[in-house]
Amino acid sequence: MKKIGILTSGGDCQGLNAAIRGVAKALYEEFGSDVEIYGIRDGYRGLIEGDFHRMHPEDFSGILTLGGTILGTSRQPFKLMKSAAEGSETTKLEKMKDTYSKMGLDCLVVLGGNGTHKTANLLSEEGLNVVSLPKTIDNDLWGTDMTFGFQSAVDIATHVLDCIHTTATSHGRVFIVEIMGHKVGWLTLHAGIAGGADVILIPEIPYDITKIVQTLEQRNQAGKGFSILAVAEGAISKAESKMSKKEFKAARAAMAEPSISYRLAKEIGELTGQEIRVTVPGHFQRGGSPCAYDRVLSTRFGAAAARLIQEKKYGNMVALQNNRIVAVPLSEVAGKLKAVPTDCDTIQSARDIGVSFGD
Ligand code: F6P
Repeated sequence: MKKIGILTSGGDCQGLNAAIRGVAKALYEEFGSDVEIYGIRDGYRGLIEGDFHRMHPEDFSGILTLGGTILGTSRQPFKLMKSAAEGSETTKLEKMKDTYSKMGLDCLVVLGGNGTHKTANLLSEEGLNVVSLPKTIDNDLWGTDMTFGFQSAVDIATHVLDCIHTTATSHGRVFIVEIMGHKVGWLTLHAGIAGGADVILIPEIPYDITKIVQTLEQRNQAGKGFSILAVAEGAISKAESKMSKKEFKAARAAMAEPSISYRLAKEIGELTGQEIRVTVPGHFQRGGSPCAYDRVLSTRFGAAAARLIQEKKYGNMVALQNNRIVAVPLSEVAGKLKAVPTDCDTIQSARDIGVSFGD
């Protein structure tokens, strides 16, 4: 009898349930009644506290199109994994190992992003059998060309830009749409191009406010009374890019505006005298059904994870490289960020059609 535990950790995204379904259906196909699947509640919290339940084939039906995660999720800071929990000598790591062995698991399947993979690697180093799947709307996981959730979020952010376009053209206004993505610009870059943004600001390319204003003035002179800026939540100015981590943190803490987009709106408004509006779709970008692309990718990842379990190839993350599914060692993934390469063809193509990156 094979016993498999499965958990989803970190911020949710579209395609988590499709991926869970992919893993489970492929395991049942492979092992039939010789496999038991256990759902662990709320990510690593459930593993730490021993909060799990036996699941059955019917639990995995009808969830392909469902947003969120049927297992629940939570964020557990990696830096606290090895330190003793409050009021106890036992570390979270020890508790997780304990639950794993009490459950008698043959493998733990983990669906998550960057933080999740650091912990997955730690568990693997501690001798647990772990297989993981890359999820996040940020697409910033090293080792895979694509994470599931990303394309669905691109679709939503693009829809926001499309809607903003119609009102911006009617009023002749400048609009800033703030797009998620944490420290990287994948989501903003893709949605920005798909939504026809005139200016795209991403953390990988620090901006100069005078260059942005120049672009807006050129558009005005060309008789285009409106402009759309797709701004990554992690966008930074050239001056900020030269700061130390500590200086940057202090500067942002002292910032009067709630986010970078509002600061930009104020600065651009003062420099141009134009009316600037800000739209922040926020967690909308993580919600709802996965798009068709993510349903396919999640299913491929899920089936691939089951194959790794069948072949006992533990300690790996399933990944997409050049449209092929591969296994990447967790030790290679953990702690690395996949930022947008500034010389990539996507950025060059946007520049070729006149998009400004504010540099
Ligand atoms: O990592 C996914 C993400 O949505 C980021 O794009 C964003 O910065 C962050 O999570 C928001 O986190 P929370 O859901 O904890 O507010």
